[in-house]
Amino acid sequence: MSDPTIESILQEKRRFSPPQSFSDQAYIRSEREYEQLYSKAAANPERFWGELAEQELHWFKKWDKVLDWRPPFAQWFVGGQINIAYNCLDRHLTTWRRNKAAIIWEGEPGDSRVLTYGELHREVCLMANALKELGVKKGDRVAIYLPMIPEAAIAMLACARIGAPHSVVFGGFSAEALRDRLVDAQAKVVITADGGFRKDKTIALKAQVDLALEHGAPSVEKVLVVERTQEEMTLKPGRDVLWRELKTQVGADCPAEPMESEDLLFILYTSGSTGKPKGVVHTTGGYNLYTHITTKWIFDLKDTDVYWCTADVGWITGHSYIVYGPLSNGATAVMYEGVPRPSNPGCFWDVIEKYGVNIFYTAPTAIRAFMRQGEALPQSRDLSSLRLLGTVGEPINPEAWMWYHRVIGQEKCPIVDTWWQTETGGIMITPLPGALGTKPGSCCRPFPGIVPEVVDLDGAPVTDDQGGYLVIKKPWPSMIRNVYGDPERFRRTYWEQIPPQDDQYVYFAGDGARQDEEGYFWVMGRVDDVISVAGHRLGTMEIESALVSHPLVVEAAVVGRPDEITGEAIFAFVVLDGSQSPSAELAQTLKEHVVQEIGAIARPGEIRFTDALPKTRSGKIMRRLLRSLAAGQEVSGDTSTLEDRTVLDKLRGGA
Ligand code: PRX
Repeated sequence: MSDPTIESILQEKRRFSPPQSFSDQAYIRSEREYEQLYSKAAANPERFWGELAEQELHWFKKWDKVLDWRPPFAQWFVGGQINIAYNCLDRHLTTWRRNKAAIIWEGEPGDSRVLTYGELHREVCLMANALKELGVKKGDRVAIYLPMIPEAAIAMLACARIGAPHSVVFGGFSAEALRDRLVDAQAKVVITADGGFRKDKTIALKAQVDLALEHGAPSVEKVLVVERTQEEMTLKPGRDVLWRELKTQVGADCPAEPMESEDLLFILYTSGSTGKPKGVVHTTGGYNLYTHITTKWIFDLKDTDVYWCTADVGWITGHSYIVYGPLSNGATAVMYEGVPRPSNPGCFWDVIEKYGVNIFYTAPTAIRAFMRQGEALPQSRDLSSLRLLGTVGEPINPEAWMWYHRVIGQEKCPIVDTWWQTETGGIMITPLPGALGTKPGSCCRPFPGIVPEVVDLDGAPVTDDQGGYLVIKKPWPSMIRNVYGDPERFRRTYWEQIPPQDDQYVYFAGDGARQDEEGYFWVMGRVDDVISVAGHRLGTMEIESALVSHPLVVEAAVVGRPDEITGEAIFAFVVLDGSQSPSAELAQTLKEHVVQEIGAIARPGEIRFTDALPKTRSGKIMRRLLRSLAAGQEVSGDTSTLEDRTVLDKLRGGA
């Protein structure tokens, strides 16, 4: 986070109570009710989660044991059998919800589709049978590389229905990034589309899949192709199959497969502080319960609500809070293919007005971009349907929070600033909107059953208002179970950096935070080599490897530079091999190279060429110095470990 943001967060003293009219109708209506729930969960977590699992979900077979915790490996609802697609679809079909809108989809060009629970169920069964037809069996991994169209949700639910774990790869990732993920997960089938609409253009997806497979992902046997943009593509006989055609050849009868609670539900890759993205493993029963109950209580979701989360299904937010959480609750969820763009900066407000959205969940980076455009645009639309707002993905600066509250929420909507991660599966620290007062910039207090703490590097709790590392002290149902294929990395990354306290393992989130005297958490951002650009997590090492894979680059160091809109921007220091002189064209070439290796989300905002990088005597790049340089600040703090001081002077001179 930038210094001004940290400054304003540290000085923030405002507090907003939930409007009485909101609390009166909420699931959890007062601070007292929250405290009671929290205490109940703390006193006997297994009973708390067990009761909820029984009340809120359908099980084919009840579990024998709520939790089997062999640190750092947890198993939830051991022996229970469940299917998350059944909970998201089938159980609603025997009620009036059969004809309720499950997904209201708005395409970028302005086309739209509404799928009722009945229709969605049928589509999911057809796709599930299509997957079986392509040879997919329980346990086989299926990659999903789709734009934001209903088929993305249909594909996820179809996989879940037959017990084939999915790995959704964000449509903005390049062929190379896709290939790495296909190889790591050993995917058997890829579900993709000809292309998708993005910012008034089409982006080709099938062509990227072709490239990825050409470069080698031998586990992939079949590619199922959805037609969206009608752009040209080639179909490889024997491998590529059109969804439109296969759909007519399979039946719509496909019972949901009873899954063991701990069966793998999905893998989702996320960036860490080493070069290779990690496959975060989530399993079935605990994830179903936690996303269900957090969606219900945090968004105070009622059957009459129209709920909209603007994330992409390629990220965890899309998994938990567009697809599984809302549908498990029988909600009506809006899904939007577009993003705000120069030709349509007010598109979010149009969608809210058009569908009468009541609950709106978006990212701070979007809010900051809207702030810059001014108030006239949102004020010219009817936003009166809104009753609750949410944010996720990065710390929200109090100014953006206040703008969201005043201009979008019209001072009547509570804001839930929700802290969580790909690894946590669901929201961990958040206001419960009818119960807890909010403070701009604070993600408030833990969800019942979640036990966070701010500690020092030895794992000892720090006192109120001191900064430290955020850890979670008790297992929770939707927690990461493993890093796919790499239990050692799982242990090392999340459980050993902060040493166990009294033999109790704690989960290390990788974030810095502080807790104020009222127990409110203030998350300050990542403390590792992960940067967040527009709320998307990127490993600096990942971008460095991409740069170094270019033949002219011998060394690269990537840091985040504060950015008013996107939170952080990518700043790369690059050392060339000497065969070519630095130039603007070369910088452009290298930026494109990163796009090709990872995807447009990783495009460096700025590249600075240098003869050498500042390193310690042991050869470690001193990123702290580079961060200051990138931010245009004076380099302060200890530089005594620097091996060659002239490097710093040169870098400064070059600035
Ligand atoms: O640094 C925190 C930040 O986003 C990281 C998790 O990123 P990812 O796994 O991509 O998931 C994003 C969506 C859940 C966290 O380690 N983060 C997320 N939400 C917040 C946040 N930082 C501050 N406040 C939040 N509400």
